[in-house]
Amino acid sequence: MVAFHAVVLAAGQGTRMRSAIPKVLHPLAGLPLVAHVFKAAAAAGANRISAVFGPDTKGFERLRPAMETRFFVQKERLGTAHAVLAARKALEGAAGPVVILYGDTPLVTPESLEKLAGSLQDGAAMAVMGFNATNPMGYGRLITGKNGELAAIREEKDASPEERALYLCNSGMMAFQGNILLSLLDQIDNKNKAGEYYLTDAVEIARAAGHRVAFALVAEDEVRGVNTRAQLSEAEEIIQNRLRLAAMDGGATLISPATVTFSHDTVTGHDVLIEPNVFFGPGTVVGDGVTIKAFSHIEGARIENGATVGPFARLRPGTHLGPKVRIGNFVELKAAELKSGVKVNHLSYIGDSEVGENANIGAGTITCNYDGFHKHKTEIGAGAFIGSNSALVAPVKIGDGAYIGSGSVISRDVPADALAVTRAPQVHREDWARRVRERHKAAEAVKQKHPATAISNKSGGE
Ligand code: UD1
Ligand code: CA
Repeated sequence: MVAFHAVVLAAGQGTRMRSAIPKVLHPLAGLPLVAHVFKAAAAAGANRISAVFGPDTKGFERLRPAMETRFFVQKERLGTAHAVLAARKALEGAAGPVVILYGDTPLVTPESLEKLAGSLQDGAAMAVMGFNATNPMGYGRLITGKNGELAAIREEKDASPEERALYLCNSGMMAFQGNILLSLLDQIDNKNKAGEYYLTDAVEIARAAGHRVAFALVAEDEVRGVNTRAQLSEAEEIIQNRLRLAAMDGGATLISPATVTFSHDTVTGHDVLIEPNVFFGPGTVVGDGVTIKAFSHIEGARIENGATVGPFARLRPGTHLGPKVRIGNFVELKAAELKSGVKVNHLSYIGDSEVGENANIGAGTITCNYDGFHKHKTEIGAGAFIGSNSALVAPVKIGDGAYIGSGSVISRDVPADALAVTRAPQVHREDWARRVRERHKAAEAVKQKHPATAISNKSGGE
């Protein structure tokens, strides 16, 4: 792996997204487009990033790549070469390889970036990542010489009919020897149909100076750009398919892969079973032997070995399920730590809670964690039994092995091994139901015999 400096161009306005959010900050598998590019660069060997945004891109400071990153603003959008020059300060004195990436081309794989940076190793001054386009419209065409070497890149606007007939296209991603890059860029002018400073002109300039220019081919899916919401959904489909395959390769069975949505960072173990229609948001780790039943929505959760979740479960951020925990249908968990063997099988909300080993939470148990101002904690001891339809009003502690009678509203701490029950005592009125029934029956009989009376009775006046 060759270490390199990644320059990510993202000054495009993205007007076709019709969005208040800058295009490159739209999420793909839960991660902003441009962050996918940062991630691929890091995995391929980038040790620093310079990202070029437009003056109207709000919110990019919140992106925090895992390495040294500088943000630059390109004030006017005068072309791809001009955009790279917006990062001039970071490029001065650069020695190693510099790889140019696009913030709206999130599907490029680390392997392809490694290949691109690696193709500089035998002395080429620059290398271009090309691909065979199914439909080359709009792309720059790669013009090759007699020996198959890359001679030039022609933008569609400037291409001859013969050049336009070529299917070999420029992905836009390129690698340069850092010590040559600025001298090439400074020679690029804007004398073309678009009146822009084309980065692609670097090819001919390098060749004229006697340098060698390499190119590497990648699959079209990796160079797909996102300009519209439709293209965003196409990119999502591609990345989801990659994530599904990776989960399956890692030992997960997906009964209906196309209905399972992963986050870019979902981790799944061996012998995981995922039923249809399951959604993973960011930050989830699923251990070995876990079953996730249909229609579950899971984000920011850690699920340990042998646990079972769903169907129709919702795990929100901060959920941690210990080994062999069982979560059943219509259960919502948030910021809840459930130790090994806990069961919450039906219709419950457990939030801001700690639940000890093997506790059993009955159907319809609710932790009342919010008083309208603050969130409070519920602690449930090991082996405790919470009867169905109980409300635990936090802050409250249920001791180990304690037993809560069904339908209780618990607002004070319960000692270990005690029974707590807050229901009103049950009363019986002997014969009450029979007497009411007979009274109704008698009234009906009068109505049948004297309909007129019944009507005058109904209209009510005395
Ligand atoms: C560019 C390439 C073309 C290639 C295509 C692949 C040039 C001249 N052309 O064309 O050969 O086939 O990408 O998609 O390089 N950007 C800026 N500032 C600018 C201009 C562009 O930051 O002033 C950024 C954009 O945000 C985008 C990328 O550079 O991420 C490409 O710009 P775009 O205008 O889409 O280039 P194309 O005309 O598509
Ligand atoms: Ca484009």
